[in-house]
Amino acid sequence: MDIPYVGCDVMSSAVGMDKVIMKQVLRDAQIPVLDDIWFYGTHWSDNPEGITALVEETLEYPVIVKPANLGSSVGISKAGDRDELRMAVEEAMEFASKILVDMVENMKEINCSVVGDYEEVEASVLEEVLKTEDILSYQDKYQGGGKGGDGAKGMESTDRVIPAPLDEEQTEDIQQLAKDTFQSLGCSGVSRIDFMIDQASGMIYVNEINTIPGSLSFYLWDPAGKDYTQLTHQLIQMALKRRREREKLTFSIDSNLFSTQSAGGLKGGKNGAKTASRS
Ligand SMILES: Nc1ncnc2c1ncn2[C@@H]1O[C@H](COP(=O)(O)OP(=O)(O)O)[C@@H](O)[C@H]1O
Ligand SMILES: [Mg+2]
Repeated sequence: MDIPYVGCDVMSSAVGMDKVIMKQVLRDAQIPVLDDIWFYGTHWSDNPEGITALVEETLEYPVIVKPANLGSSVGISKAGDRDELRMAVEEAMEFASKILVDMVENMKEINCSVVGDYEEVEASVLEEVLKTEDILSYQDKYQGGGKGGDGAKGMESTDRVIPAPLDEEQTEDIQQLAKDTFQSLGCSGVSRIDFMIDQASGMIYVNEINTIPGSLSFYLWDPAGKDYTQLTHQLIQMALKRRREREKLTFSIDSNLFSTQSAGGLKGGKNGAKTASRS
């Protein structure tokens, strides 16, 4: 409708929604993501033994089973053995046709917000998110699982440490990976990129991107002096910039495709030429 809008475009929003596709794009950009196996629920129903064998060949228990395109931890569970894997897959199948099984270690969860577009990006301070169970649950996120939580506030009220207690090198590595993730996926506006640090090896992995982060992640920008008003102002400026850039692109070409046909049968552009429009 030619209206400027804040945030990701259709492509980056869609890629960010699908954890399977998102990880494929990130792997291709050499951004570290956890090993996984994915499959369609119908394929599982046809051949649960075959897929179980594949999971067991590739990953070690415990694993985390997720619907590919949900959020808020819905349908996600941890499986410690074959029976639990079956139950976890059946649970995830209630929510999505594509299922992702991720490797899991003793993970520290770190989040970083990014503001920008394909040209310029900034990374925020980092937060460490504290969870009350193995999996940061719906309860933790929205129902004030942790102390002092306020159910109405989503991720804003989850127990967290800002800035995350990491050394400078790890902090910078994560900020760089957050910017790379944002740009590889073609994002714009503000996103939050969630990381896992394997506590045993120190390895950093991108877990997922949230292209419309809860509370626009303003609490990660505020400490560095960008308040909510400045953040939203910047987002609107970027939306207008994208609109100006799109206006410069050519979306239609004059084509002489039909000019060899008799003019009588054609209506449209000058001299019998047809115009291919953006639709
Ligand atoms: N591979 C993993 N290893 C350990 N914990 C995980 C893993 N994947 C997910 N989790 C836990 O499950 C939570 C939700 O998973 P996530 O992939 O972030 O999905 P959602 O889109 O629902 O937020 C995470 O915040 C984390 O606590
Ligand atoms: Mg998450």
